[in-house]
Amino acid sequence: MTTETHAATGGREGNPLWSSRLTFILAATGSAVGLGNIWKFPYITGENGGGAFVLVYLLCIALIGVPILIAEIYLGRRGRRSPLATMVHLAKQDGRSHNWKWLGIMGMTCAFLILSFYSVIGGWSMVYVGHAFNGAFIDSTPDQIGALFGGMLQSPGNLLFWHTLFILIVLTILAGGIRSGLEKAVNILMPLLFLLLLVMVGYAMSTAEFMTAVEFLFKPDFSRLTTEAVLSALGHAFFTLSLGSCAMMAYGSYLPENVSIPRTAITIAIIDTLVALLAGLAIFPLVFSNGLEASAGPGLIFQSLPLAFGQMPAGLLFATLFFFLLLVAAVTSAISMLEPSIEWLEEKPALNRVKATAIAGAAVWVTGLLTVFSFNQWAELHPLAFLPVFEGKTFFDILDYLTANIMLPLGGLLMVLYTAWCIKPMTVIDELKLKSGTAALLLPVMKFVSPALLLLVFVYNLL
Ligand code: PHE
Repeated sequence: MTTETHAATGGREGNPLWSSRLTFILAATGSAVGLGNIWKFPYITGENGGGAFVLVYLLCIALIGVPILIAEIYLGRRGRRSPLATMVHLAKQDGRSHNWKWLGIMGMTCAFLILSFYSVIGGWSMVYVGHAFNGAFIDSTPDQIGALFGGMLQSPGNLLFWHTLFILIVLTILAGGIRSGLEKAVNILMPLLFLLLLVMVGYAMSTAEFMTAVEFLFKPDFSRLTTEAVLSALGHAFFTLSLGSCAMMAYGSYLPENVSIPRTAITIAIIDTLVALLAGLAIFPLVFSNGLEASAGPGLIFQSLPLAFGQMPAGLLFATLFFFLLLVAAVTSAISMLEPSIEWLEEKPALNRVKATAIAGAAVWVTGLLTVFSFNQWAELHPLAFLPVFEGKTFFDILDYLTANIMLPLGGLLMVLYTAWCIKPMTVIDELKLKSGTAALLLPVMKFVSPALLLLVFVYNLL
């Protein structure tokens, strides 16, 4: 971390920047790689029938995700302020409407809402570190593993405890200037997670149903592709790249001038996608070999992987390590979700970093209660059931749907529209240091292709 001049930080006096491109990549990858890759991707792929869904998801990453990731990081670096202040500042500078501030407000709110349920799931991974370490999976049957998961959900007190602990960890990291510690931790832990996933895939290859799983993931069966599946694939592309919620904008606000944003964005997208696909390859062979349901929903990894750990040599060690790394991946994502809110609060004269962190943290903890009770006391409560899309959905389901399928894509759409239509093309080319070939490709994609695809999916879904 270095402190650069007033000019380089766009007016944030003495504000720190990431120490290098690599550090930014690590932090941004830390944000991108999280529960989305290992927990969510497999279960929504299972719910949406496999191959065709995966194909649409990959297309969304390439055609919509990467251009928007570039736009979001770029806006953050241009503003060098909290997302809200950034949008206000940029709109003024580019002679655009003050209402662009709503983009900052929506993104910040969205990241906040995501964290409220993310932290409960992060709590699950802590519970599972404990189970793994105590040998709870050894020689267990699918029924026993299922009961372990069900038992956890039934106890609100238990969920609340771990949700609280998770939030406290996140706040501790966020409160204390963080980055050098975080940078170092991510440096070791991310590659370790990758390696461990490879070990898991290696184990999965030895099971009877490995090829069934490969087919399930990579052989598209378009008859199973529903409109809802397309919308979830799009939403998940946003979720997994941390897009549209101003998290990447906030991280981009600390990015040194000389770093190439397009190259960096592509690197992040590739790593993130690889992790998700590896997770799928590790999990589905076990699901099929043990006669589990691919469409089991949010409990999928917590019910499939423990079976494998219970049978493999040194399973206790691998299981403990795996759930620990899942926790690390969740934490490094979670901190990026609160950074926009904290950056915004920090701009208030009366608040310093620590106070801002405490306020944001308390608010997100309370909001998290909605998710804690969604799995037990309020499991049958469907608060917005009068709207057809929310029929049968708990608070958790609603938060998940609203953020991933609506707010993130909408935020991303506005970011790419602002970049492509509200900033002078010459400025974009100049500030992103685009070579003429790249500019000829990227600008039209940002101007037309990504927005059109996004709108298409939206409108199609509305109809
Ligand atoms: N990308 C994170 C994951 O895959 C989730 C996330 C969403 C992080 C939005 C920040 C903002 O788990």
